[in-house]
Amino acid sequence: MTTADSRWNENAMVERMSSSRGRRYPPEFWAFFDSAVLPRIGDAPAIADLGCGPGLLLQDLALRLPGATLLGVDVSDAMLANAQALEFSGGAPSFEQHDLNDAPYPVENASLDLCVTASVTCFLDNPLVLFAEVRRTLRPGGVYLLYDWRRQTLADYIENRGGLDADPALMGVQPYHNRFTVDEWRWLLAESGFELVGEAHPRISHVALASVPR
Ligand SMILES: C[S@@+](CC[C@H](N)C(=O)[O-])C[C@H]1O[C@@H](n2cnc3c(N)ncnc32)[C@H](O)[C@@H]1O
Repeated sequence: MTTADSRWNENAMVERMSSSRGRRYPPEFWAFFDSAVLPRIGDAPAIADLGCGPGLLLQDLALRLPGATLLGVDVSDAMLANAQALEFSGGAPSFEQHDLNDAPYPVENASLDLCVTASVTCFLDNPLVLFAEVRRTLRPGGVYLLYDWRRQTLADYIENRGGLDADPALMGVQPYHNRFTVDEWRWLLAESGFELVGEAHPRISHVALASVPR
């Protein structure tokens, strides 16, 4: 799926992503980042946020890692416009517009210390394409942080999203949000040549998996 899908209004999505920032990136996410990712990437890492959306994660990473070089990639005009208009401590990231269903991505071989995808991979036609590109672009010792939706029962999913009336787009996105169980994410990563080095569940709906190429 891309944001050209008629169920998505890109500007409404920018607003929704921005207003839900604290809920989507709770302290438990950052505690996991600090314990499982930070010790592996040094003080001046090269980081790519694939499917960076409105740029909020990049903004938080810039604050935490003033020496980092940041790249945001997304397919959406509205998301990239929002990200480019943000203020970043320590210099603006670079941005690339690219459809993550299409390899190769605009990133050099073995150039990244950290690659992050947050609530993106479940929307791709074939996540294996992304995993192969992450492997290609990570340096030896680099880390892939996947933070994505995990399958829930329909009743749990709807309850956790505030009920059937909470969001008109709910049933349209439900198949993407519930595409993979945690076990299936782990299996896909293992099949793609990654070794798991950390796992957390910062939200009831999401799993965070830190892995390194084997
Ligand atoms: C749910 S938002 C998450 C945004 C951001 N990662 C965050 O957590 O704030 C999903 C993002 O993935 C992007 N996206 C979806 N399909 C894509 C594709 N095929 N190629 C590139 N970006 C894509 C959307 O434009 C959107 O910005």
